[in-house]
Amino acid sequence: MSRLQRFADLEALSRAAAARFAEQAKTAIAARGRFSVLLAGGETPRRTYELLAEEPRQRAIPWDRIHFFWGDERCVGAQDPQRNETMVSRALLDPLELRSDQVHPIRSDLAPEQAAADYAVELRNFFGTAPPCFDLVLLGLGTDGHTASLLPGSAALEEKVRWTAVTRRPEEPFSRVTLTAPLLNQAALILFLVAGRNKAEVLRALLARTAHPPPYPAGLIRPLTGTLEWWVDQAAASLLAPGHAPA
Ligand code: 6PG
Repeated sequence: MSRLQRFADLEALSRAAAARFAEQAKTAIAARGRFSVLLAGGETPRRTYELLAEEPRQRAIPWDRIHFFWGDERCVGAQDPQRNETMVSRALLDPLELRSDQVHPIRSDLAPEQAAADYAVELRNFFGTAPPCFDLVLLGLGTDGHTASLLPGSAALEEKVRWTAVTRRPEEPFSRVTLTAPLLNQAALILFLVAGRNKAEVLRALLARTAHPPPYPAGLIRPLTGTLEWWVDQAAASLLAPGHAPA
């Protein structure tokens, strides 16, 4: 099942996403004592992370019961501003002063294949024998239809079993580690956060009913039993029919 929610702009989308994060966290913690969230990189979710770290929400969320994972990472140096962990730490994690065992970064200090294998072990250790079902997965959308680092044309798009993979953009001097669709699609709730006019065409194509096989990597994201929601600003939704509902 998937839903589309439109917001006036990125600020409104970010405020709603922060509120939904808080709501999901409290529900999961009340039910199972912990909340597992997979974080997106890129620019779109930054404001959501900043809002979550602000005082009112900081107080209301049992942060010590939350575990943070990443959907992908660039294999660059630890303090490299291109790392998704760097952005998320500055926007959200550093102000929260969390325990180290709550934060599960992808170890891009390792060789890419080793980092991918290491992260699969990290996921297995966290989820144990249970399915790796994240309570919440936040994803962005690239203008080429990628999400996480599931890049167009990469072998990772064909992965049906492994939870992690190594990908690479030809024009980038570094590899990436990404979680795969089989892992992501186990989630209870997947929120795509999409903003900006430059995403309008790819969003329109992705949400079109006739797109089989998926025209873009993000089309592989179809939760097995969970919910998929597209949270978009008006600019990104500008090519969608007014009453458009996703397939
Ligand atoms: C990455 C991100 C990526 C991102 C999209 C959208 O490491 O590049 O994880 O999947 O979500 O590229 O990025 P923007 O939000 O900056 O448009």
